[in-house]
Amino acid sequence: MSDFDLTIRNGTVVTVSTKRDADIGVKDGVVVKIGKGLSPGDRDIDATGKLVLPGGIDGHCHIEQLSSFGVMNADDFYSATVSAVHGGTTTVVPFAAQQRGDSVTEVVRNYRALAEEKAVIDYHFHIIVTDPTDKVLEEELPPLIKEGFRSLKVFLTYEKVRIDDYQMLDVLEVARKHGALVVVHAENNDMIRWTTDRLLKGGHKEAKFHAISHPRLAEVEAVHRAIMLARFIDVPILIFHVTTREAMEEIKRAQDAGLKVYGETCPQYLSLTAEDLDRPGTEGAKFCCSPPPRDEADQEAMWQGLVDNTFQVFNSDHAPYRYDETGKLNAGPNPTFKEIANGLPGIELRMPLLFSEGVNKGRIDISRFVELTSTNMARLYGLYPHKGTIEVGSDADIAIWDPGLEKKVTDKRTHDTTGYTPFEGWTIKGWPVTVLSRGRVVVENGELKVERGSGKLAIREMPELAKPLGRIEPEMDAARNFGVELYR
Ligand code: URP
Ligand code: ZN
Ligand code: ZN
Repeated sequence: MSDFDLTIRNGTVVTVSTKRDADIGVKDGVVVKIGKGLSPGDRDIDATGKLVLPGGIDGHCHIEQLSSFGVMNADDFYSATVSAVHGGTTTVVPFAAQQRGDSVTEVVRNYRALAEEKAVIDYHFHIIVTDPTDKVLEEELPPLIKEGFRSLKVFLTYEKVRIDDYQMLDVLEVARKHGALVVVHAENNDMIRWTTDRLLKGGHKEAKFHAISHPRLAEVEAVHRAIMLARFIDVPILIFHVTTREAMEEIKRAQDAGLKVYGETCPQYLSLTAEDLDRPGTEGAKFCCSPPPRDEADQEAMWQGLVDNTFQVFNSDHAPYRYDETGKLNAGPNPTFKEIANGLPGIELRMPLLFSEGVNKGRIDISRFVELTSTNMARLYGLYPHKGTIEVGSDADIAIWDPGLEKKVTDKRTHDTTGYTPFEGWTIKGWPVTVLSRGRVVVENGELKVERGSGKLAIREMPELAKPLGRIEPEMDAARNFGVELYR
């Protein structure tokens, strides 16, 4: 019998800080040895000419979730995780989404049950808080955070799910006291509503008006406001799906001032523009997401943010809706732009697109790729060092990439159930060929090798990056000096 259940030999192993020719030995799902000349394990994978990378972590994806439009995602935990792993992702962090009136304890229990039954890779959840009642804030969230649900998501727009600034302060207060990161969908609701009303009154209904109805300033204002609210309470925040240079600059300014403000952008903001919404008939609906894709100058800005570390993470915001009456066209065959379900599929192509456009075109190096798609997410969400790296002791969540493999994207080739891909026809160079989750070969040469339900809830602790700075605003300090209790 060998020392290892599995070995990966002759490849180039990459982490954030190292790139070395080495072999990897895996036992009981964990990396137990990294070095040259390891003897073959019970199962031996030859990675000659390949890159051996930490499995990706998709820290922003919507799975089996009832959207803010009341429409169900096309993918369940099986199809979404099968799709994710074909693209090199081995952990997903979707949402346990509270609808107003729900108990968040129940919501988390329900989403966990769905994932437990179907996921093929590991997972954890952000808790979406849409109804921060005293019960939710004081009785339900604290034990959930302690149990490992260390990120709370809030929406500043969408009528059915948004919270106001007072409620956001309440959520931040609970995060501050109990140790959670707050992640934010930042757009100004009234700027969108006001513009939408005028467009519709003027008879402008087509999908292309979705982009106009979400003005860039709506993003900039809400990003700025979210940063100020988080600074006021002293809570680290992650701004999701940044699309404009000005919003990125708000984040950069906060970072330069020493605040723990983190940023994310997504594949669609590097590759699509508002013009993609201007397609014949209702075809533009396929490209409606919020915030919307902008223009080529913003695409360049997003690349800059990925390179200069204004953005720490690159997630898919996979929000799959079929192009039919169950999804995008749920309001009928000719919906107004306001009625089109928001969101795009992307869980599978997130990493290949960044590899192809980023690494293979020389915009980022391979270590930065690993950092953006895996390690930083693990660090921010408290999954590190079990996930997000290849070290002795870490889970053997590993993707073996062929950097020269070229394939054309077609919907037929992707594994989600959306029925279309916004990246149809793109040529992508660089694909994962074998993907392991806790030492199990999950995908090999395009074939799924594991059973539904074999994924597990990941281990999550309070990460350093999500700890408050310990700074206090003068008025908060004054209030405290008068004996006011600050953090419930
Ligand atoms: O259009 C998007 N992004 N849909 C998903 C919901 C969200 O905004 O997070
Ligand atoms: Zn969002
Ligand atoms: Zn989202």
